[in-house]
Amino acid sequence: MEIRDMLSGFKSTSGVLALFFCAVLSAPVAARSEKGDEARRQELHQYLKGRYLFQKHCTTCHGETGRGDGPWAADLKDKPRNFRVGVFKFRTTPFGKLPVEADVRRTIRSGISGTAMPFFKDFSDDDVGALIVYLQNLSRKWDDEELKAEPIALAPRPEWYGDADAKKLRVKKGKALFAVNCVSCHGEKGKGDGPASVGLIDIWEHPIVPADLSGPHHKSGDTPEDIFRTVATGLNGTPMIGFHDILDAESIWDLVAYIQSLPADD
Ligand code: HEC
Ligand code: HEC
Repeated sequence: MEIRDMLSGFKSTSGVLALFFCAVLSAPVAARSEKGDEARRQELHQYLKGRYLFQKHCTTCHGETGRGDGPWAADLKDKPRNFRVGVFKFRTTPFGKLPVEADVRRTIRSGISGTAMPFFKDFSDDDVGALIVYLQNLSRKWDDEELKAEPIALAPRPEWYGDADAKKLRVKKGKALFAVNCVSCHGEKGKGDGPASVGLIDIWEHPIVPADLSGPHHKSGDTPEDIFRTVATGLNGTPMIGFHDILDAESIWDLVAYIQSLPADD
């Protein structure tokens, strides 16, 4: 038998096999691939909508390609995020991990106090979702399973928080914890002027100073829960690590009470 005949014999067998598999599998495969196509179409639609909204509302600061180099960036003290790096400060997930969708949603909805990052209250939930799909396509980090994580359990506000007398003792404990863990950067009075505060840079290679914790406003929100979240999870890309694995929830609440007791003009 010639090689060509063998090949044609093989071909016809595989053709039959192919037909056989088609007959057996065609129904579920078709259904599955239709669903896949629909999901892909949805994602593409969200991506394009997100890109449109990003071009319209975000590029003046975050830049045409999301590198944080828009025309306004040069004049801003806190630089707009470079989304190509795929590192996010404001999260409920452990230090070093990607944020969950709700985290990015919260930042877009609430803005970042004390910086140029505005809040976008008028977007629909779908608009914000589309923007997030777009942001997630600007960096490969979002495909890295190692960087994905669930939010950490944030301990609820303790009862003593509303009790002035009980709180005094907690503030004292918080002050002691602050002296050990935080003063080096944030300074004796939380003004952000500790001995280690000089010459710090973030991973985007911009100078960064420890936050002045004495005012009422904080970047990632002003409620006790917001401050607890920041201290527990840290701010990725900055020297502000998360203390979730270092301090227990009670100690973090003591610190929050102390931070909120700091006088604003001192
Ligand atoms: C006027 C300038 C400006 C505009 C417009 C702007 N941003 Fe920002 N954005 C910033 C700055 C500045 C920061 C960084 C603040 C910081 O790190 O403290 C920021 C940070 C962010 C972050 C935080 C990421 C993190 O680390 O957790 C997100 C998300 C974000 N911007 C999304 C958007 C989106 C989406 C739009 C458009 C709908 C937008 N921004 C428009 C200035 C701007
Ligand atoms: C190695 C230096 C360093 C240490 C130690 C440190 N921080 Fe920070 N912290 C920073 C920097 C830098 C920022 C500002 C990050 C930014 O602006 O994006 C910050 C920001 C914060 C914020 C956010 C303020 C805001 O505007 O949202 C809080 C709250 C905070 N730190 C609390 C603490 C507490 C409590 C401790 C101790 C348990 C601590 N930090 C230890 C460097 C440090």
